[in-house]
Amino acid sequence: MAEQTLFIVKPDAVRRGLTGQIIARFEQKRFVLARLKLFRFTREQAEEFYAVHRDRPFFGELVDFVVSGNVVAAVIEGHNAIATVRIMVGATKSFEAAPGSIRGDFGLGFTDNIIHASDSIESFAHEARVAFQ
Ligand code: TYD
Repeated sequence: MAEQTLFIVKPDAVRRGLTGQIIARFEQKRFVLARLKLFRFTREQAEEFYAVHRDRPFFGELVDFVVSGNVVAAVIEGHNAIATVRIMVGATKSFEAAPGSIRGDFGLGFTDNIIHASDSIESFAHEARVAFQ
């Protein structure tokens, strides 16, 4: 079943010039771009985007990081998009992410871990609304 999901190329990866390579991986996998946007999160927008983590101890650090530079948000479409894109992204701690995954191939960071991807239909709806508002 064709499904949509959202990913965000985070500021560390945009700064390093990895945006093209990351988008290319999803195109190679045969996902189709539906929306694409380069922008910088305002603090308020970032807090809303990550609202689910508001009470977690790392929330402040996460928001500081994600507002630190431009990001690229994309909506892509294809079979089983939400789960498949999460597999392609890899484990949250880049230093533990499997080689072959995006985090596994491009970095060692934890908060600065290259890319975000929606983990459910509900988070996709929320995140797309915030990122493309
Ligand atoms: P989470 O949704 O758990 O991970 P994922 O991005 O793999 O879905 O957390 C959101 C982001 O918050 C994560 O990408 C990196 C950051 N984070 C921290 O900085 N410290 C932490 O302890 C955790 C759990 C996450």
